[in-house]
Amino acid sequence: MSLGVCYYPEHWPESWWAEDARRMRALGIEHVRIGEFAWSRIEPKRGDFQWAWLDRAFDVLGGAGLKIVLGTPTATPPKWLMDERPDIAPVDEHGRPRGFGSRRHYSFSSPDYARESARIVKALAARYGRHAALVGWQTDNEYGCHDTVLSWGAQDRRAFQQWLRRRYQTPDQLNAAWGNVFWSMEATRFDEIELPNLTVTEPNPSAQLDFRRFSSEQVKAYDKLQADIIRAHSPGRWITHNFMGFFTAFDHWELGENLDFASWDSYPIGFAEQFPFSEAEHARWQDTSHPDIAPFHHDLYRAIGRGRFWVMEQQPGPVNWAPYNPIPAPGMVKLWAIEAHAHGAEVVSYFRWRQAPFAQEQMHAGLNLPGGHELSPGGHEAQAAAVDLAALGALAPPRKAAVALVYDYEAVWTTEIQPQGASFNAVELIFRWYEAVRRLGLDVDFVRPGADLGGYELILAPCLPIVSEAAERAFAQAKGLTLFGPRTGSKTRDFAIPPELPPGPLAALLNLRVLEVASMRPGVRVPVSGAVSGAAERWRERIEAQADVLARFDDGAPAVVAHGSRLYVGFWPDEAALAALIAIAVSRARLDVVALPESVRIRRRGDLVFVFNYGRDVWPAPMDIGEAVLGGRQVAPLGYSVFREGARA
Ligand code: GAL
Repeated sequence: MSLGVCYYPEHWPESWWAEDARRMRALGIEHVRIGEFAWSRIEPKRGDFQWAWLDRAFDVLGGAGLKIVLGTPTATPPKWLMDERPDIAPVDEHGRPRGFGSRRHYSFSSPDYARESARIVKALAARYGRHAALVGWQTDNEYGCHDTVLSWGAQDRRAFQQWLRRRYQTPDQLNAAWGNVFWSMEATRFDEIELPNLTVTEPNPSAQLDFRRFSSEQVKAYDKLQADIIRAHSPGRWITHNFMGFFTAFDHWELGENLDFASWDSYPIGFAEQFPFSEAEHARWQDTSHPDIAPFHHDLYRAIGRGRFWVMEQQPGPVNWAPYNPIPAPGMVKLWAIEAHAHGAEVVSYFRWRQAPFAQEQMHAGLNLPGGHELSPGGHEAQAAAVDLAALGALAPPRKAAVALVYDYEAVWTTEIQPQGASFNAVELIFRWYEAVRRLGLDVDFVRPGADLGGYELILAPCLPIVSEAAERAFAQAKGLTLFGPRTGSKTRDFAIPPELPPGPLAALLNLRVLEVASMRPGVRVPVSGAVSGAAERWRERIEAQADVLARFDDGAPAVVAHGSRLYVGFWPDEAALAALIAIAVSRARLDVVALPESVRIRRRGDLVFVFNYGRDVWPAPMDIGEAVLGGRQVAPLGYSVFREGARA
């Protein structure tokens, strides 16, 4: 329950450090993250380690009572290293090496870079691993940022071939799995296999999916290399990594296994800018963000961190990297910090202490103005957040939610590789289902496919084309009402249509078959009526069902089908249909709900009920919500109130 900040001592005169540290503490900051881009200052030439400045930074920050999080500097290999080992550079999809002069210019499959990373991480861990002020580590920085998970060079190809050899053993088995007889794509040796780029028309989807899986495993292996070294040299310190928003290029469930907990970097307005909202929604949320953008990720990363997460970077004001970068509405910088805690965050760490007046991010706000020792508007709000956090005191761990949302990275890869309709975006679909449930005041837990679903009253699986055996078992054993979305079970593990037709392994559970699918142009809508009314847009399926048909398309074909406690939705629901579907699901699951306005959300932690108001109007909370411990029953615009459950107002 506290605040932190990202700090770059190497960006500022050393004479400022002590004052910076003192003012951090005065503002209520407990943790400071340093180091993650500082390689050129730590090792300006091979083997020439310059520890003295970093030793002094540790002393000054630690001496002020700050707890230090040290980032490994591997997101920014320095120029001398790139010149010495040009093979480290990643190669883009068009076969061009990506150059030096920003960051993340390395391939996860570079053996040279693995060796060099191990060397620098070991040197840092040996020097600071037992420092009294050091509490934990961040590996690298934002794996995959700037589209860097996939690399398309010769060393990537060699590593992919080795991975394929392990997976398939013989070229014949690979040919069979990928369907390589099609278009004479058959291989006779693994070293013939090309990367799935630069083809005349689309490459084989099975090859693409395997390349995504391989690349995801490379990220995990690279991270583990760092984590293992740190663990050996830094006993008693935790390890985390700062993941990103709406980022799906590697499997975070897998990488999370390397870590003690997950962290993520929360830029609510930047992410809202990048999300495919309608123009009206973009305008509406332009300076607050949408009320589910940050929470969606808090809930995701709490699950990836097996119950524990931090916000490692929190937006403090305007950012520099979205298409438009508004100033957050007054109150939002404070609200986001409390909201993160309501979802279970242990620490919310602002990015960054002071705006840098130079280089790429000079238009990105910090808690201080670029000139010196003066808080920015966001800095004042962070200070106010610290006061409210102190007033709340220790927070109980989050309780298990009633609703589970099954979230799968392969689902995103599969539908990206083969969208079959330009507007089919899996993350958008999942986000909309999450939003619809949260509009009813419910808390949500994200669940890894295949994990136990016991204890959940309502289970959502909006998009799961590949259903593993573990996932099939978990669904079969689940007692909660389960709602499956379009394309469920539509592909085998090898990216083929299952012999029994979709939903493949779930055919018996759902008692239906999908015979055909249609994607639809923008503006085309197919009315749906029955227990659910609204319309299908973007996608509809032709279902053959023995089960109960709850709603039909206007041509009479089944649209929503129920088989016992399992419902299948064979289309992309518009807003009305989605609300109606979720209403049926929550009522069948017998959940207590409260219909919220589009700008208000509720989140429980322990016996506290947090209400967040992203709107410009006061929201009168229900009379029975409990006793207000922060704010009042009239929840302020761009503000929040906190209530103690059970206690009467
Ligand atoms: C993050 C990154 C930081 C900084 C920040 C700006 O993606 O980790 O280093 O670039 O964005 O918003």
